[in-house]
Amino acid sequence: MAYTITTPLYYVNDKPHLGSTYTTIACDALARFKRLDGHNVHFTTGVDEHGLKIERTAANLGKDPKQHCDEITKTYLDLWEKSGVSFNHFVRTTDSKHIDLVAEFFKRVEKTGDIYLGEQKGWYCVGCEEFKEDDNDREQKICPIHNKKLEWRDEKNLFFKLSRYQSQIESLLDNKLFIQPSYRRNEIVNFVKKGLHDFSISRVNVKWGVPVPGYPGHTFYVWFDALLGYLSGLFESSDSINPDNLGQHGWPANIHVIGKDILRFHAIYWPAMLISAGIDIPDGIYAHGFLTREGKKMGKSLGNVLDPNQLLDSYGLDAIRWYLLKDIKFGQDGDFQLKRFIDLVNNDLANTLGNLLNRTTTMSKKWFNDTIPEFKVDLSDDNELVQECLRSIQKYKVAINDLDFSSASNIILELSTKANIFLNNQAPWSAMKKAGNELDVANDLYIVLETTRICGILLNPIVPNLSSRILQQLGCEDQPLRFDESLKWGRLKPGSSLPDSKPVMLKLEK
Ligand code: MSP
Repeated sequence: MAYTITTPLYYVNDKPHLGSTYTTIACDALARFKRLDGHNVHFTTGVDEHGLKIERTAANLGKDPKQHCDEITKTYLDLWEKSGVSFNHFVRTTDSKHIDLVAEFFKRVEKTGDIYLGEQKGWYCVGCEEFKEDDNDREQKICPIHNKKLEWRDEKNLFFKLSRYQSQIESLLDNKLFIQPSYRRNEIVNFVKKGLHDFSISRVNVKWGVPVPGYPGHTFYVWFDALLGYLSGLFESSDSINPDNLGQHGWPANIHVIGKDILRFHAIYWPAMLISAGIDIPDGIYAHGFLTREGKKMGKSLGNVLDPNQLLDSYGLDAIRWYLLKDIKFGQDGDFQLKRFIDLVNNDLANTLGNLLNRTTTMSKKWFNDTIPEFKVDLSDDNELVQECLRSIQKYKVAINDLDFSSASNIILELSTKANIFLNNQAPWSAMKKAGNELDVANDLYIVLETTRICGILLNPIVPNLSSRILQQLGCEDQPLRFDESLKWGRLKPGSSLPDSKPVMLKLEK
């Protein structure tokens, strides 16, 4: 079964920062989970390369816009590789297949009768690439997100008849699952209630954009262009770009994951554009919160960004992914604090999970000839830890399906804490001192090793590299990872050899 997930297409006005890395890592965790759960995943990410913001940035740097885009896009691709982002499709809005699709899509919308020439007047934020509709913003003439002056516009543009879709958008919003988390829905419902206005989809003063067929001098408004990247990204360059074939390529998307600042575009403009073109609308949208630093949104325009490359070089991929996914409740804002980050990673990954693996494999190697203990009676049905393990798997699946990465991470951590407690209670080190207890000890160690293996599998979507190291230390890295196989109890083979012990997670230095 296909499962299609997208990140926003990031503006290439500057290199990626930790905010964009956050969204992409979260989507990656979901994509990895869905693959292990048996889905045929289309995970799309990419870059939004047109528009006034990029045109101006390149001009200020004295660069040709395409050269600027090529350079910044490369920094995204390099970072995603370094962050273990397993995307299937990477869209550039300067790709020719994308430009073809935009033209094709426009023709459809024009044919429906939803395009007309009109007068566009208003206060524009180049950072948001949006006309501000909020009365307060218009009065202040300052964008609250970018803290920059709004610019007055008065020009003849092409308009899209959004107002025609009032009732369709209202019915769409009646589906309470369309916008997640539910607390983000109200803002959109209230906005729609005030009545939808047509919006301009072309510019006459921006050269760096996709030309509008049949309207010389007009380029497409960057949002009209960029949203279509969700469709063009599903095609290969060699495919014929026909929107009628989208179903074979994974459309409609199951979920668009975005930041809360761009919800209106995704929940209102985008579905209306799709309905107009006769294309299916996505199943849902998840709008997460902002990563803040000292309480302020981290952003390229505000200059308070954390460089993900530096963090990855200093602390490694697993540490960053664990912190972002576990400590920040997906949906809500979260503040990045270095000390908290280091403490959390050391406690959770090095102490709790790392020690569990290390002490259990060390005992098994010492007393059972460097192998997974061979037990004679399977007591797993009655064992509390085994039952806990099976319950945890179910809870974990529910959590990730809800994009609740924090709960999913906590479920794994609690399971490993319970395994540590089980070991302490059973105290195999004392039991082994008395003759005749070998079989019981073998059984206890097997149960803990198997629980650790299951923790290792469940960790895969969240911290894929740590997961591989854990499975490698258990000598089972070659076994299938797909959940229908890997999460069955008893996959560790008694008597199979255990490799030399190595710590799977080194403590981070403060
Ligand atoms: N290009 C548009 C999206 C077009 S999608 C068809 C855009 N780009 S962006 O680079 O400015 O932002 C991309 C995403 O990053 C947005 O979802 C935004 O909310 C998110 N973030 C930007 N700063 C962020 C944080 N500090 N924290 C979390 N997410 C952040 O908008």
